[in-house]
Amino acid sequence: MVTLVLFLLPFPGMETRRRLEAEEPRIASVCDKEMALSTANKIFSTLNRYSKLTGLVVCERRCDSVGIPALSSSLNLSLGRIKQSFVLTDRHLPDMPIVYASDAFLSLTGYSREEILGCNCRFLNGPGTSAEVLEEINQHICLEEACTVHLLNYRKDGSTFRDLLHVSPIRNSSGKVAFHVWVHLDESAKHDFSGLTPEVWQLGAVGAVRVAVRSLSASGSLLRPSQ
Ligand SMILES: *[C@@H]1O[C@H](CO)[C@@H](O)[C@H](O)[C@H]1NC(C)=O
Ligand SMILES: *[C@@H]1O[C@H](CO)[C@@H](O)[C@H](O)[C@H]1NC(C)=O
Repeated sequence: MVTLVLFLLPFPGMETRRRLEAEEPRIASVCDKEMALSTANKIFSTLNRYSKLTGLVVCERRCDSVGIPALSSSLNLSLGRIKQSFVLTDRHLPDMPIVYASDAFLSLTGYSREEILGCNCRFLNGPGTSAEVLEEINQHICLEEACTVHLLNYRKDGSTFRDLLHVSPIRNSSGKVAFHVWVHLDESAKHDFSGLTPEVWQLGAVGAVRVAVRSLSASGSLLRPSQ
């Protein structure tokens, strides 16, 4: 030990280097482990999200609008009068596909109707979309409750928007949940809500969808008669 110190004294830089060499590996191994773990977790969750994003591309091609029920032209017409940006998803089909998308939703996200009919809404998600919030939405859907959340979502061109998202169950005339309406609002864009708050503006769409679905369901003309 003494010899080592004496030997190293004439070379202070070397001593420092030597000490660092002696101590660093141990510190580094602990730090490395923690950082590797945290990085692995980050990469894993990012990959997870990227694969969802990739799933979008796959989904875009795989989405089968042929497999979804065609809404009656009267329902399509009534929904077409609603100004807000929203989609309707079918509760009873696997993976809750979109069965209707409003014009405002198409302009908000940059997709065409053909691209997204039959898709699950997750194509809007990407890196930075909160998995916790998505889980929260799922829980409310399961409980047949409405919810409003803030979410980072993606347009077709890859740009993001802060989404004020209201999701609400829509019941048919027998009181069974037939659809979910997803009303999207780009929080960073300027909007004219005719003096209403964003939340009330969104609820306006839900009310209008409810009325359209309930009345047409009562007259048995929710869906186009099957060929
Ligand atoms: C539904 O209405 C939209 C306009 O709001 C129209 O572009 C679309 O072709 C209609 N779809 C069907 C199936 O009639
Ligand atoms: C309401 O939805 C339920 C479940 O899909 C269905 O069984 C029932 O026939 C529907 N009622 C009407 C009036 O469409």
